[in-house]
Parts: sequence; structure tokens; C-alpha cells
Amino acid sequence: MAIKKVMVIGAGQMGSGIAQVCAQAGYTVILNDLKPEFVERGMNGINKNLDRAVEKGRLEASAKEETLGRLSSSTSLEDAATVDLVIEAAVENMEVKTEIFRKLDELAPEHAILATNTSSLPITEIAAATKRPEKVIGMHFMNPVPVMKLVEIIRGLATADEVYKEIKDMTKVLNKVPVEVNDFPGFVSNRILMPMINEAIYTLYEGVATKEAIDEVMKLGMNHPMGPLTLADFIGLDTCLYIMETLYEGFGDSKYRPCPLLRKYVKAGWLGKKTGRGFYEY
Ligand code: NAI
Repeated sequence: MAIKKVMVIGAGQMGSGIAQVCAQAGYTVILNDLKPEFVERGMNGINKNLDRAVEKGRLEASAKEETLGRLSSSTSLEDAATVDLVIEAAVENMEVKTEIFRKLDELAPEHAILATNTSSLPITEIAAATKRPEKVIGMHFMNPVPVMKLVEIIRGLATADEVYKEIKDMTKVLNKVPVEVNDFPGFVSNRILMPMINEAIYTLYEGVATKEAIDEVMKLGMNHPMGPLTLADFIGLDTCLYIMETLYEGFGDSKYRPCPLLRKYVKAGWLGKKTGRGFYEY
């Protein structure tokens, strides 16, 4: 099967980035979210990104128009009826994701692959919400999607070899590097990254240093391009908390306990860059 048409569910920071790179690579893309204004916000983000790429000489103006021509908006999952692949990038919540996959299983063509961009949730459990677990796979892009090269490809217990190969090949067409990992909480990337971010939050919580000092130590001392608290703001503090909870529940080990300060910020609605305030103000 050749993948030609893709539906991306969730037009937030990840979904809009995924829709953009798919459209730039020549795929026909439907970008879906719950409300028209959410899809519009995602589309505006894509437009701005492409404008910047044209200004910097990284993209021809004609290529920008062609990319936009391949993108369309949707607020109904029924639009999945004509696609070859769905990439789900809605919020990091198992109930939301299983409900989406249950509906997609009814609405998408029999041959369609259902992928999720989850950062940490078990692919096997998401797949079990469908009658086609062999066609369900994790396709974990990194943020910001147009810039970052890695895509973690996660095989669920039942994922078929052909489906893995199809998604691996497509990742290369997107000009990204696929890395295969098995289905364990947090996969590889967030099992290692998120406890570090959580520890940085504990370091702030316990008054070891200011937020600026913590970020400076990790930037200058470890050569990280940005400090862990800034990175948490970019990822979204709600997403960070969901991932820590998945690790904590999944492994049952207290070393993954989410920092109370992270919970407090999320309860306050300080979700990071996307809401204008997290550890820093934007
Ligand atoms: P976001 O909060 O920016 O966007 C989520 C979008 O999903 C929102 O626009 C929301 O309206 C929409 N949505 C929620 N429920 C929906 C439904 N039932 N149907 C359609 N749309 C729905 O979140 P973000 O950061 O884009 O994350 C999305 C997914 O990507 C999560 O699973 C997250 O764990 C994962 N991810 C996030 C990364 C990050 O750095 N933020 C990196 C890699 C993966």
C-alpha cells in the first residue's frame, strides 16, 4: 500500500507541525481538531512557519503555495473515510486517545494505518481499543516537528511487520530519521528526558537554586541547547505531568513521582509557552 492521504488529529503544536511536514513532503493532509478556531490556529501557525522558511531562503515561494494547497481543515472524524494513514496528536490522555481510536476504527478504510504521536502512553493499550491492532503504531515526533530529525517508531505487541516498514519508509520520505523502540512507558526519549526535567523542578522546589541558575548550569555545564525548565515550558507542563504520571503508574517506582510544584503549576493553568506562563513568562 502506498500512503498518499493523511489525516492529523489535533491541531496543537505537534499536530500542526506534523501536518506541515507531511504536506511539504507531498502528502495530501487533512488537519482535524474539535473546533474550527483550533484548526485555524494550527493552520495560521503553519502559514507563519512556511513564510519564515521562504524569507530565510529555505523554501521557494511556489513550494509554500503547493504545500498549503495540499492541506485542508476538518472538525469531523468522519473525514477519515478517505485516508490511508491517521496520525493522532490530541492531548496526552488515555481516555481521549482510546475514544478517538475506537471511532477511527469504525470510520477509516480497512487498509488505513492508525498511528499515535503519544509521548508515553502504551501503544498496545491504544491498539486494543480497535479491531485492527496490527495496523496501530506509535510515531513519536519531536518538538518543533519541522526542525527535529528524530521520529521514535514504537511497535505495539500486535503491530505487523509490514505496517512498521511502511511507517519507517514514510518517516524517511519526511526527511526524518526513524528509530525503532519497544512499547514501554515513556519509550526511550521520555523515560530518560522527563525524569531529568522532573528532577530540575524538584531542584527548584527545594530551593537549591533559582530557575535561571538551574537552566544555566545545564546549558553551560552539559552543553544542552536549552535548560530543563525552559524545555518543560516549551513541551507544555500539562504534557510533562501526564508523562510523569504514565511513568509512575507504568513502573510503580517512586523515582518517577511527579514533583508537587509541577502539579501546582498545571492546576494554576500555567502550562508554559502555549499559555504565556510556565516557569517563565512569554
Ligand atoms: P497541544 O495542547 O498543543 O494540542 C493538543 C490539541 O489536541 C488541541 O488543539 C486540542 O484541541 C486537540 N484535541 C483534544 N482532544 C481532541 C479530540 N478528541 N479530537 C481532536 N482534537 C483534539 O498539545 P501538543 O503539545 O501538540 O501534544 C499533542 C500530543 O503530542 C500529546 O499526545 C503529546 O504527548 C504528544 N507530544 C508532545 C510533544 C511536545 O513537546 N509538546 C512532543 C512529542 C509528542
